[in-house]
Amino acid sequence: MKRNIIIDCDTGMDDAQALLLALRSPAFNVLGVTCVNGNVTLDKVMINTLKVVEHSGTDVPVYRGAAQALIPEKSQNAPEIHGSDGLGNLDFPAPVTQPADENAIAFTIRTLMAAKEPIDWIMIGPLTNAALAMREEPRILGKIRMLTMMAGAIDFGNTTAAAEFNIFADPEAAKIVFEADVPKTMVPLDPLWHGGQVNKEYIDQIAARKDLPWCDMAAKIMRRTIDMAAGSRRRYAMGEGAVSPPDLLTVALAIDPSIGQFEQYQVRVETLGQYTRGMTVFDRRWNREFEQGTHVNQMAVCLSADPQKYGQLLVDTLAK
Ligand code: BDR
Ligand code: CA
Repeated sequence: MKRNIIIDCDTGMDDAQALLLALRSPAFNVLGVTCVNGNVTLDKVMINTLKVVEHSGTDVPVYRGAAQALIPEKSQNAPEIHGSDGLGNLDFPAPVTQPADENAIAFTIRTLMAAKEPIDWIMIGPLTNAALAMREEPRILGKIRMLTMMAGAIDFGNTTAAAEFNIFADPEAAKIVFEADVPKTMVPLDPLWHGGQVNKEYIDQIAARKDLPWCDMAAKIMRRTIDMAAGSRRRYAMGEGAVSPPDLLTVALAIDPSIGQFEQYQVRVETLGQYTRGMTVFDRRWNREFEQGTHVNQMAVCLSADPQKYGQLLVDTLAK
């Protein structure tokens, strides 16, 4: 049976690939895509998300959410990573569809409260929309089967030495979500360097199906990612022609968790540190709550992934 999904994003090059996978997956029934400020400004995120949904061959509604972080002056964008348009300046045609009239927070609350079966909530951007929805209607927590988020880092950050972008962009929102009493899965940066990569052989198979608009878009973005990363300093080698889009791995793990290896940790968000604002702090010490799995900050954290299983899922979902 298909799982009902809400996916929250800040489209972004890797969000685009992740959305295409979610929208094409036979495992998912995507009820709506909600948008938040992040990789680029919310206006650009809306345009990018509509372009992606149009390329997916579906008509899933797209909702406008928060244009700023909970502390507005701390809002972040990352055009240096995703290109000034957020999609690598690849000149995909302008969207012909429009966002839904309803606001993302209102849509999320309405949909979760009306759900007969628990819903999967996937977050691949800053956690502002999720925090706002949880604060406005805490009863939604009882309606969530699993909250899966691309968030944080164990070893080192990408935006600062300590912090990963989605958390750094709104640590106050992340704290609300991390403290929510729901089952949580966290995909930090770390598995990207430990098997969570898409190898060239799979990219080539997706690129070979350029007759399918979702494959054409995904392959173009993957290849642009390789070009853009060519000059950058990488701490871990990934192999020639491979990519490791964080949001794509997150959606793949939500579809099939057996792609990854997970450990249970208590995870907290640093909101104050001089050098560590937005850092995720992993408590791996033993305590009774931990053993019983009852602490609200406890979550399944992905540490590594199987690149063959991951690549095959992408090809089977997108290119067959
Ligand atoms: C995360 O931040 C953004 O750059 C990506 O879209 C991803 O969600 C990685 O830190
Ligand atoms: Ca993202």
